[in-house]
Amino acid sequence: MIADDDFVVRAPETPEEWNEYFALRWQVLRRPWKEPQGSERDEREDESWHRAVYIDRQLAGIARIQMNSLEEAQIRYMAVNPDFQKRGVGRALVVSLETIAREQGAEKVILDARSSAVGFYLVLGYTVIADSYLLFGEIQHYRMEKALY
Ligand SMILES: CC(C)(COP(=O)(O)OP(=O)(O)OC[C@H]1O[C@@H](n2cnc3c(N)ncnc32)[C@H](O)[C@@H]1OP(=O)(O)O)[C@@H](O)C(=O)NCCC(=O)NCCS
Repeated sequence: MIADDDFVVRAPETPEEWNEYFALRWQVLRRPWKEPQGSERDEREDESWHRAVYIDRQLAGIARIQMNSLEEAQIRYMAVNPDFQKRGVGRALVVSLETIAREQGAEKVILDARSSAVGFYLVLGYTVIADSYLLFGEIQHYRMEKALY
């Protein structure tokens, strides 16, 4: 866990924080494409690890990681509030999720990045390995991965 006076990385704790967590996921990753509230969740929420960054106690960004197998972890639903982008929030989330993946024994982390986020993951050491799916008929994703050492 990363923490100082005003920049904290942790899981949401209270019901209000969980509501805010899923609301940010929906606002950044679903609402712009007119997807309904609820569409931001899937069946693996309970068995995944969730992290949020709070800056001055405001929710700045969120992300989730799941184990796909004993060796492979997958980052999903990375979303930083536009007011807090380019301030290291996304990087802190990825670092925290990679720590969880290592603790779980994963050898690599994979993810499907929107084309607009590929540059972000390249900076963090991920490599594009394939074209992935087209979301909502228009958002091209790329499968990326990083070996954990
Ligand atoms: C992509 C996203 C997660 C990045 O989060 P962020 O908090 O703005 O990123 P950080 O400030 O931690 O950036 C870390 C590094 O990546 C770089 N970076 C950030 N976004 C980038 C982008 N879109 N393209 C290229 N580089 C990028 C930063 O310059 C920084 O590099 P540096 O440390 O060398 O200066 C955020 O912009 C976001 O949520 N976007 C909308 C939703 C989205 O696309 N989610 C990902 C779905 S796959």
